[in-house]
Amino acid sequence: MTGGAALTGRVRVTGAKNSALKLMAAALLAPGVTTIEEVPDILDVAIMSEVLRRLGCEVTYERTAGGGGGGRVVVDVPEKPSTETDYDLVRRMRASISVLGPLVARCGTARVALPGGDAIGSRGLDMHISGLERLGATIVSEHGFLVATAPRLTGTSIWLDFPSVGATENLVMAAVLAQGTTVIDNAAREPEIVDLCTMLGAMGARIDGAGTSTITIEGVDGLAPVTYTTVPDRIVAGTWAIGAVMTRGDVVIERAVAGHLAVALDKLTDAGAQVESLPDGIRVAMEGRPRCVDVVTLPFPGFPTDLQPMAVALAAVSTGTALITENVFEGRFMFVNELVRLGADVRIDGHHAVVRGREKLSSAPVVATDIRAGAGLVLAGLVSDGVTEVQEVHHVDRGYPDFVEQLRGLGAQVERTQRPG
Ligand code: UD1
Repeated sequence: MTGGAALTGRVRVTGAKNSALKLMAAALLAPGVTTIEEVPDILDVAIMSEVLRRLGCEVTYERTAGGGGGGRVVVDVPEKPSTETDYDLVRRMRASISVLGPLVARCGTARVALPGGDAIGSRGLDMHISGLERLGATIVSEHGFLVATAPRLTGTSIWLDFPSVGATENLVMAAVLAQGTTVIDNAAREPEIVDLCTMLGAMGARIDGAGTSTITIEGVDGLAPVTYTTVPDRIVAGTWAIGAVMTRGDVVIERAVAGHLAVALDKLTDAGAQVESLPDGIRVAMEGRPRCVDVVTLPFPGFPTDLQPMAVALAAVSTGTALITENVFEGRFMFVNELVRLGADVRIDGHHAVVRGREKLSSAPVVATDIRAGAGLVLAGLVSDGVTEVQEVHHVDRGYPDFVEQLRGLGAQVERTQRPG
């Protein structure tokens, strides 16, 4: 891409990757045809479709014209799904483990490969496992698989050590078919958790407190398939918002929900941006150079860790100095070395980054190490002089459907020189 252009215009955000994948897993809880709308057209959705197919489901994906890279997934779930998910799928996408809860709840057993490490930290599964054990499952680890068995799960109280998104989701999906009442304390409060619980409620589950730290689930004997629309992707929306500020542009982000991005938008206001909540979206505009603002990542409603790389990129071209603190994933500053190649002045000390803003960055070839790091590097490329090449861009494709097309639609000078895959 060639830096210099301000992002200007309108962009439509489809459903959240991090919700759609779990909604697809939740379909396993009811035999029959579940339809999910606003599912992003990305590799992770194709992988989750394959996970479901190998469990015996029929899965189709149909893109919606003009849908901002979204489409409709139809999952036809058999009466008796199979119960094994292989390493080749879990390794390609860690979120495959979200079939563990629904499978053990519905089939009484599940065999799901252990994911191993990934590029942003160790990402344990201890809370998924201990929670399922509290619900009455027996879990053993053998030959690289987690094997869970429970003829019928039983309601219980679970206190999570940390409000883990994945553990909360797996445990909610297990508890909806358990016998009796489950209370999950210190539960994650992300909008994607609310989305999952809303869909489960429509399927007939009895869930209270989604979006708060205490979720209460009254188990039911069975659930029915539904048609459901995925919540808009707040991380994609936040990426556009930060991109607008960095490039000193003016962008209307259609379908973005301001309440899902409250802290991030507040930071952008502090940085000097104009942020306006519209009936169906958000407008973010910036005149002049932004000011550095400190950022601390925390579980929702805190600043999202998935927007941390973009926050570092923003600070890199702002006036002053910012302290960015990462509290959720230990390895998430790894991409900073790439940003430094673009001339950013960033010093890492443990889980803190000290960023001293520069007027401009200086183009260079850089390598995307994960989805969000890649998006942060692309934004940095937009404010670098000259031509920046972001390699391994397939990472970015995993979280941003039609990213290049949408960037071009906003006036960026960017092209893809290698086809996806
Ligand atoms: C999800 C999102 C990811 C986002 C993250 C935090 C998906 C597919 N991914 O990931 O984009 O960055 O939420 O908002 O939805 N942990 C444990 N033990 C456990 C579970 C988690 O130690 O049993 C730790 C992890 O290592 C990590 C932290 O808890 O340090 C947060 O993880 P979690 O909230 O579970 O994130 P994910 O669900 O993996």
